[in-house]
Amino acid sequence: MKEVKIETKLKVYDGMSELPINVQELMESAILARDNAYAPYSKFKVGAAILLDNNEIIIGSNQENASYPSGLCAERTAIYYAGAKYPTNNILKMAITASSQNQVTDKPIPPCGACRQTIAEYEIKQNQSISLYFMGAKGKIVESDSLANLLPLLFDNSVL
Ligand code: THU
Repeated sequence: MKEVKIETKLKVYDGMSELPINVQELMESAILARDNAYAPYSKFKVGAAILLDNNEIIIGSNQENASYPSGLCAERTAIYYAGAKYPTNNILKMAITASSQNQVTDKPIPPCGACRQTIAEYEIKQNQSISLYFMGAKGKIVESDSLANLLPLLFDNSVL
């Protein structure tokens, strides 16, 4: 038996003004998307904005449903749309923000497991990593320069 230690590396920014200007703009798009989320059940709104290599920004927000599992997270709404509209363009960056009607979300809110698995698929598809930036409604922002940092021991197509 041997013990394996897995390490990950993230950057933490104190606020939006510390971000590079193009990431600030991306996060602004995510904020607009978040505010238009359809989240009448959870009251938890999430926005995502994707920067493509053709400079297009694709946005997504969570879309809920009275039949709860039929809803979809913001990140997957955005990334599936990007994949559908620009199937041959690479995704460079994704900014994510979340706000709750029940509490102040002032800590970075990372993407859920299903969204991590989905973003990982696109990193593999395009053979290029995607930089992720996530925050709450305000406060610190975490950057991960690849989804792989957030999902060790990933299940991927190499085993199929
Ligand atoms: N949600 C997202 O949009 N992204 C995540 O990564 C986590 C959760 C949404 C799904 C649901 O509409 C609401 O937030 C509460 O879970």
